[in-house]
Amino acid sequence: EPASPPPPLKFNGTKLVNDAQHPWKPLRHGDIRGPCPGLNTLASHGYLPRDGVASPAQIITAVQEGFNMDSFTARFVTYAAHLVDGNVVTDRLSIGGKSQHTGPDPPAPAIVGGLNTHSVFEGDASMTRGDAFFGDNHSFNETLFDEFVAFSNQYGGGKYNLTVAGEYRFHRIQESIATNPNFSFVSPRFFTAYAESVFPINFFIDGRQNDTQLDLDVARSFFQGMRMPDDFHRPNKPVGADGLDAVAAAHPIEPGANAGAVNSYTPDPTSANFSTFCLLYENFVNKTIVGLYPNPTGALKKALNTNLGFFYEPISDACTQVFPYGK
Ligand code: HEM
Ligand code: MG
Repeated sequence: EPASPPPPLKFNGTKLVNDAQHPWKPLRHGDIRGPCPGLNTLASHGYLPRDGVASPAQIITAVQEGFNMDSFTARFVTYAAHLVDGNVVTDRLSIGGKSQHTGPDPPAPAIVGGLNTHSVFEGDASMTRGDAFFGDNHSFNETLFDEFVAFSNQYGGGKYNLTVAGEYRFHRIQESIATNPNFSFVSPRFFTAYAESVFPINFFIDGRQNDTQLDLDVARSFFQGMRMPDDFHRPNKPVGADGLDAVAAAHPIEPGANAGAVNSYTPDPTSANFSTFCLLYENFVNKTIVGLYPNPTGALKKALNTNLGFFYEPISDACTQVFPYGK
């Protein structure tokens, strides 16, 4: 049985998180890292197992404790990722590539490929990682980070802020439309791309700093070095995707994809968008998860149902639960 999701923090103010109990350490042979600078950093500071393989409960505890991510966001994102990229029976998820340490695989078409797996959670037009089409969707990409810096200089006076986030998000989408014939920007990527654009502002700025301007050396430390600055304090209250609406409103675009050629972006009306949030949940369960697990039985079915319940809980006020495998 998977562990239940940990509760919200008791003390949810700012505090020193780059502390003596959580020193940054360089990677050892075999340690796994992936496309998420937040989880990479938590692993390199020992908030997550340093080998990069963790349970959903460990991830929720780590993002709350280390970055003050709110309980809603932490649970929704973690169980979404675990259901498509993790092993629900052994309760283990790799934060990067496929790993033997997640245990025996369930039958295909399940992937259990870790967070690097393209198109179930990880997607195109990332800020500092390339599109899967170009061969590496998870490593820090200096060329892209240079664009992140250039946009921060042009629109943010040398800092990454909400204005920069709106411009750089749109730029990365336009860049993928113009260069990646397989570019896809439908749900869930349509949502995660905008959320992740505000994460650096919400999580990488020291909790004692109140100007919402992210220093670019600090940004590089997290994105590339997977390292909190010395004396880093987490945010002073629980946060999630605050600011997402402003980023999306800067340059509105419909979910869609290139049709197999560059510059052929076509809106996809079957994808969820910002006015149909529950469709994100329904399609993720009924299409993506059922696509990976069309006919689960026994312990696998039980574990899927448990995790589907944990995934639904944070949105239970807003959406109706779906039960692809019965109740
Ligand atoms: C990107 C997973 C929490 C910051 C990603 C990606 C995944 C992921 C799979 C790659 C998406 C893509 O760019 O294609 C998760 C999971 C979390 C989590 C399962 C559990 C709650 C966090 C936290 C932070 C964070 C707490 C910040 C402290 C980011 C950022 C990106 C990202 C900034 C965008 C990277 C880029 O575009 O270059 N995350 N993440 N994430 N994550 Fe996380
Ligand atoms: Mg990506």
